[in-house]
Amino acid sequence: MGKQSLKPNNDYCPQTLFLYGTYDDNGNPDFGLFCWFSYLWDGEMGVMCSIGGNKTTRENIERNKVFSANLVTEELLPKADYLGCVSGWNPDKMKIGLDIGKGEVLDVPVLNNSPVNFELEVTDFIYKHDGVTMLCKIRNVLQDDYLSSDESVEQKLSHIAPVKTTAKTYLSYDGRKLGAWGEPMKKIMNG
Ligand SMILES: Cc1cc2nc3c(=O)[nH]c(=O)nc-3n(C[C@H](O)[C@H](O)[C@H](O)COP(=O)(O)O)c2cc1C
Repeated sequence: MGKQSLKPNNDYCPQTLFLYGTYDDNGNPDFGLFCWFSYLWDGEMGVMCSIGGNKTTRENIERNKVFSANLVTEELLPKADYLGCVSGWNPDKMKIGLDIGKGEVLDVPVLNNSPVNFELEVTDFIYKHDGVTMLCKIRNVLQDDYLSSDESVEQKLSHIAPVKTTAKTYLSYDGRKLGAWGEPMKKIMNG
């Protein structure tokens, strides 16, 4: 089988999706959708993630140095897609009835309906052109009680149904197409 040389892209390399939760300078929560998220090692597990361009999430993290990363599930997908397609500069963005709680360790908003919530503190901001890459300490991981049960990893994953993305498409954990970017949000826009 042959190979093609292409410009930088990450198509066909599925990524896990997270909703980052931050507070603005009035203490109001904002959530945005992110996939450039991975892990690092520095004596303990940490997180590295990248934000391109300016946006509410970035401004809030640069000011507060803390945020939450909430795993996106199929149940959350319509709202997650909306939170990735609508800017936090729209004053009505957060009026979609999210169930928002608080971190246990850090002053961050978390999504109660997400089964895994990371509470993250940024230790390093790395600036390049118009993007910022952030290295973070994991100060706490909140997981639903169910994930401590005796069920197998496969059973737990099929139960919580995390969403993957690649090539501007959302996919289920077991590879079913869940829509192109911008499609699942239509469910909440149409009521
Ligand atoms: C599927 C998907 C993944 C995204 N991943 C990222 C990402 O990793 N980094 C980034 O800077 N923006 C990413 N975005 C764009 C942000 O979600 C978008 O800019 C959103 O408006 C951020 O929310 P905010 O404006 O409230 O900060 C993604 C959007 C979608 C639809």
